[in-house]
Amino acid sequence: MCGIIGVSGVHDAPEVIVEALRRLEYRGYDSAGMTIYQDGRLVRVREATGTHSVELLSKHIKDFQGSDSISGLGHNRWATHGKPSQENAHPQFDCSGRVAVVHNGIVENFLELKEELLNHGHVFSSETDTEVIAHLLEVALIETDRIDFALAEVFSKLRGAMAIVAMETSRPTLLACVRRTSPLIIATNDGEGFIASDIPAILGRAKHYYQIDDGVVAGVELGEINAFKLDHEPAEPREFVVTWDLSRSARDGYDDFMSKEIMEQPQAIRDTLAGRLQLWDSSGIKLDELRLDLEQLLGVNKIFMIGCGTSYHACMAARYAIESLCKIPVELDVASEFRYREPKLDPQTLVIAVSQSGETLDTIAALAEASDSGAISLVVSNVVDSSMARMADAVIYTHAGPEVCVASTKTYLAQIVALELFAIYFAKLKGTSTAKEIQALATALTDLPDKVEQLTNRFAEMIQVASKVEAFERFYFIGRNVGFPVALEGALKLKELSYLPAEGFPAGELKHGPIAMLDPSSVVVAIATRGRLWEKVMANLQEVKARGAKVLLVANEGDQQTIAEGDAAFLVPQTHPLLSPVLDTIPLQVLAYHLARFRGFDVDRPRNLAKTVTVE
Ligand code: AGP
Ligand code: GLU
Repeated sequence: MCGIIGVSGVHDAPEVIVEALRRLEYRGYDSAGMTIYQDGRLVRVREATGTHSVELLSKHIKDFQGSDSISGLGHNRWATHGKPSQENAHPQFDCSGRVAVVHNGIVENFLELKEELLNHGHVFSSETDTEVIAHLLEVALIETDRIDFALAEVFSKLRGAMAIVAMETSRPTLLACVRRTSPLIIATNDGEGFIASDIPAILGRAKHYYQIDDGVVAGVELGEINAFKLDHEPAEPREFVVTWDLSRSARDGYDDFMSKEIMEQPQAIRDTLAGRLQLWDSSGIKLDELRLDLEQLLGVNKIFMIGCGTSYHACMAARYAIESLCKIPVELDVASEFRYREPKLDPQTLVIAVSQSGETLDTIAALAEASDSGAISLVVSNVVDSSMARMADAVIYTHAGPEVCVASTKTYLAQIVALELFAIYFAKLKGTSTAKEIQALATALTDLPDKVEQLTNRFAEMIQVASKVEAFERFYFIGRNVGFPVALEGALKLKELSYLPAEGFPAGELKHGPIAMLDPSSVVVAIATRGRLWEKVMANLQEVKARGAKVLLVANEGDQQTIAEGDAAFLVPQTHPLLSPVLDTIPLQVLAYHLARFRGFDVDRPRNLAKTVTVE
């Protein structure tokens, strides 16, 4: 949600800013803007034409010709305060145009701050909360001539989760930044400094990457970083290694990132498993980053799993493995609900927070609360050193590579795999499963990437099946046991991408209400692979057929008995029942992809959605 870029000492600053904003588009935005210091003043351009804004911004690059145009700021806005419009787009300026600010998040106390500023004669030109920061900096710059010192003073007055980058005209090469919960990284290259919301924005351009802690202000000037706490005590930015390469976040000839990322799923799983399944070793699983005290882990008597959206579905899918192998109660909750229900947490509770980005505010807030209550926390994240990874006692990284499409695909499968690895690890530690049970799951995990590949190789065939329901406008997804999270994820993908009404239900619940909605104009997608409850799913299918709904199946290859029960079927390879959500979800990703494209929608950037949701 929202994308920030700041550059200092960069000779092609306008191009670099626009390219960074382009690479940040996937996070979701509605308007964009940039400012460059040129001929002694800040020149600003802003566009508010939805997801075309960055493209339009690129047409202004030629307007920035000055040889001193080496510093500037750029922003993709996801409106929270004030409609998407040119006036509300960032950068926001102070009264005189001396200060420019880009901001992600919400200034919760902006109304009272604005009132005070208005009383002192400040003139506002936007409806944003962001503009108060620019005016407050204008005031602070009366006492100090450094924008980073001014930002430290102003930041202590602002409430809420946010990231800010600011600059001013008397020393335009000095950029100041600070964050609270919202993501922001700093990077350098000989004589060049960058500040960005995330890594892909500056990938290939920067050499050294740094994280700063919450509440640490950093002045970034021509490749030098001066970081300090709000009380002006020095602070050390932490360097981290970036292993992603540019080609992995470019489209590589695919029509869109979504199809590319669906096709990358075998590799995402291979990389997530790599070096972790040591079948020949008695310890079985190697989870280096786990860094948990084993005695403490052995004392755990209850697990909560939390996440949002697709990450929540990964929790649901993996819960079966953890409960069945580790013989421990596992509760699930969406992160935004978990924190308000006053769950009973203590040092014997393990809270597993799952998040692709590691920056989702709802999950961060829930995790913080769990830690405050003394629970042990474990995070599953795809982004190294993300906010959640830093907050938690332990972390397991998924190695899916950068995911650009707003709808999660490869990171979802990688999350399930990472959680299943944890289930094996924990079961071995507790001695709650037989060697045979563990071996069976471990072997199935080893075979999984090839099976996923068999499936992704049949992308065109899956599109053919999906095309049979192109004309329909109402979809219901049903499954039982491990098929239930698959149904929910299938429905979510379809809603996100094609904007069609789609609901997921446990197949056994149909008769308790949803069946009333079925008629020949509806499609029921049934997860009917051969699991423990296959027979019961087949019985539920009869209820569906009796109401005349069109039936689309996810069935095992060669299972003619099941295939004969549907109007069409996606065929998937057989695997260990606990891993079937990984395979069964893939055709549903393709279904959503096809139905969205069929309707002419942008699959990578669905309307109203953001990749990283940094507001509550
Ligand atoms: C997935 O397709 C969605 N974009 C969304 O539900 C997402 O999974 C959710 O916002 C959580 O994001 P996270 O994994 O980065 O925490
Ligand atoms: N709250 C700010 C605004 O509405 C920033 C939103 C964002 O994160 O893009 O302008």
